[in-house]
Amino acid sequence: MEKMHKPSLTKARKRSKTLVETKEYKRPEIINLGKGKKYLIQTHGCQANEADTEIMQGLLEEQGFKKTDVIEQADLLLINTCAIRENAENKVFGELGRLKSYKRINPNMIIAVSGCMPQEEEVVERILKQYQHVDIVFGTHNVNKLIEYLHFVIVEKKRLIEVYSKEGNIIENLPQARDHRFKAWVNIMFGCDEFCTYCIVPYTRGKERSRNKDYIIKEVKALIKKGYKEITLLGQNVNSYGLDFPDNNYSFANLLEELANLDIPRIKFTTSHPKDFSDDIIEVIAKYDNIMPFIHLPVQSGSNKVLKKMNRKYTKESYLEVVEKIYNKIPDVSLTTDIIVGFPTETQTDFEETIDLVKKAKFEGAYTFVFSPRKGTPAASYENNITEKVAKARLHKLNDLVNEGYLRGNKRFEGKSVKVLVEGYSKNNKSVLTGYTEHNKLVNFKGDDSIIGEIVEVYIEKAKTWSLDGVIKK
Ligand code: SAH
Ligand code: SF4
Ligand code: F3S
Repeated sequence: MEKMHKPSLTKARKRSKTLVETKEYKRPEIINLGKGKKYLIQTHGCQANEADTEIMQGLLEEQGFKKTDVIEQADLLLINTCAIRENAENKVFGELGRLKSYKRINPNMIIAVSGCMPQEEEVVERILKQYQHVDIVFGTHNVNKLIEYLHFVIVEKKRLIEVYSKEGNIIENLPQARDHRFKAWVNIMFGCDEFCTYCIVPYTRGKERSRNKDYIIKEVKALIKKGYKEITLLGQNVNSYGLDFPDNNYSFANLLEELANLDIPRIKFTTSHPKDFSDDIIEVIAKYDNIMPFIHLPVQSGSNKVLKKMNRKYTKESYLEVVEKIYNKIPDVSLTTDIIVGFPTETQTDFEETIDLVKKAKFEGAYTFVFSPRKGTPAASYENNITEKVAKARLHKLNDLVNEGYLRGNKRFEGKSVKVLVEGYSKNNKSVLTGYTEHNKLVNFKGDDSIIGEIVEVYIEKAKTWSLDGVIKK
């Protein structure tokens, strides 16, 4: 018999009033499970998954597992999945299919699937039926149990499906093996209560819950001690930070300000919801030089009719008001966004409203998507008569405009000096260093590896659509 606990999206939708408790991670008594073994984790989706991957890497390395980039060498192959759009899921199913042959070569290889996809019952059923070479399936709410699950599968030699529909406690003090040495993800909250009608995240990540600020500050202080230069605060809607605390007296603006007073050169955050991007948040960003002048503010659409159907709780006009306030207080800010085209009932006129908004908001970048119906979400059952051809044509037109914004945003730094956090050598050219500016622009320049991890001044000679070319200032 295999061990089995399957998810339900209907259960995941319900929001309990009970306060989520914070518990500290207790190490299982298992030791050295990974001695002499190698692991490989493939991470899909957003930063929430990247942060979870770093925790799983930490858990594995505590047990002696070593990381490998070569699939053939992996004793454990884990795919941390994303459910946001159908093509994200198709990629994972394709990969799972290919893995069958690896298992034939190495029958002892353990294949695990985690993340947002297993939170959907249909995915679990499909894995059970079509991908029997998968040994472990678990979700977003039990990442901390990875070692126990591995132990079960190795010792009992059985399959394990363990997905919880509801969030559990917040677990603190989990080990982390981070991918970067100078920049770090810092979760400040989990889940989402917005229920935008197209979005699966509130179902896959559970209810919104904020991390106790003392743990956040402790984590950031430890990062500073290790020499980290940049932190990115993570949440699906960071502006809601603290709203779930019973006394409700500590907000995202408070947290930002407290962190800005620590000795960390760069603070970023993602993602913000426009509906409650409050004046006090704007003011704190404007006040502190170590909070980066870069704001990602997903708008999704410029049509009030579509925004309403999306349950976004703001209008084109109120969005542009927030944007104007931001430009007034932080004049050189770089603003980026997310946009969905082809949402059910979107007419050409609705789409033109989006184009108009993109022009008015002067975005310097955007992630653009064609609407993808997600089973279990309200929008999946909205009647949709937009053909793929029309949706693609809208996407292309939008992308042309968005790309003009990328170039315009880069051009404004031509002939200027910018601060760059040096990340390492460019993938394509080993003599060229790359890094990001305070406005989140990618810069390429010549230099040697002694400055990797430093913040240096670079003079920008040329701006291109996707990057800047510069020379380091001596
Ligand atoms: N919490 C974040 C984003 C989460 S998902 C926020 O609210 O901004 C990232 C982006 O994926 C969204 O902003 C949206 O533009 C897009 N997206 C989400 N669900 C989608 C769907 N069903 N089809 C197409 N795009 C989607
Ligand atoms: Fe999805 Fe909306 Fe929540 Fe973002 S705010 S994660 S788009 S439901
Ligand atoms: Fe994808 Fe889950 Fe993030 S669905 S976008 S990995 S929260």
